[in-house]
Amino acid sequence: MGIILDVTDLHIEFHDHDLPETVVEDFDLMLEEGEIVGIVGESGSGKSMSALAIAGLLKRHALTKKGRIMFDGHDLLTCDRNTLRSYQGDEISMIFQEPMTSLNPVKKIGWQVEESLRIHHKEISREERKKRAIEMMDAVGLREPEKVYSMYPHELSGGMRQRVMIAAAMIGQPRILIADEPTTALDVTIQAQIVELLRKINKERNTAIIFISHDLSLIRQLCQRVIVMQGGNIVETGDVEEIFRSPKMGYTRKLIAAIPQINL
Ligand SMILES: Nc1ncnc2c1ncn2[C@@H]1O[C@H](COP(=O)(O)OP(=O)(O)O)[C@@H](O)[C@H]1O
Ligand SMILES: [Mg+2]
Repeated sequence: MGIILDVTDLHIEFHDHDLPETVVEDFDLMLEEGEIVGIVGESGSGKSMSALAIAGLLKRHALTKKGRIMFDGHDLLTCDRNTLRSYQGDEISMIFQEPMTSLNPVKKIGWQVEESLRIHHKEISREERKKRAIEMMDAVGLREPEKVYSMYPHELSGGMRQRVMIAAAMIGQPRILIADEPTTALDVTIQAQIVELLRKINKERNTAIIFISHDLSLIRQLCQRVIVMQGGNIVETGDVEEIFRSPKMGYTRKLIAAIPQINL
């Protein structure tokens, strides 16, 4: 096992308004190959901003980023655009809460699942792309993948759309999958299925996962290690069970207390 991602002192500041606003401060994250790490925190605590920075998806204007995001010997904050592009959506890929906003409504599912192969692996033929897309769609639990391949996003349920997003994120065999509240828009049963799918992907493909949620009980189901964020800062980090047993911060205790008893 080796360290594949090493984020140190990440700092993100917006300049949209007169005064700069710091939204992430001193964020550190070390990720081992094949590990699942959780990031938990109330809405607005800086989880998505940190994740987007790691995925290289923060727009370059109107914000300052400092620190280091080391991946594969490169600092993703300072490397050239081509290097960053070569990782984005291929070695490091991301899925979001609401697949409907990430999926293109007028493009067929198959086309969207294949996207990262079209961008990053031009050597792969059209037939091979389709074959891999259908295999991946099958692997994420989409029934009748050949049929779904030719469908449009609006023809699918929320849970199926999230599976499509996961297939699209996984087709390039990323080393890191960042899942930003991937189950928040789904009902509890489907939520459990998606968590199970992420666990399966991690186990079978050894993909490291950064799993983001405002729900500590979900994090506990999937992750061994968790980072607790509040107001742009990491307030606590460590083994999930350990944190459940003896949370050091009042904020963490509140997150634990917010979990409905039925989930425990
Ligand atoms: N475009 C923006 N300009 C200024 N502040 C922003 C912008 N987008 C998000 N923020 C702020 O950044 C902070 C962190 O947001 P975010 O990372 O999305 O939180 P979380 O994912 O934990 O809910 C929030 O206070 C939010 O208001
Ligand atoms: Mg968020």
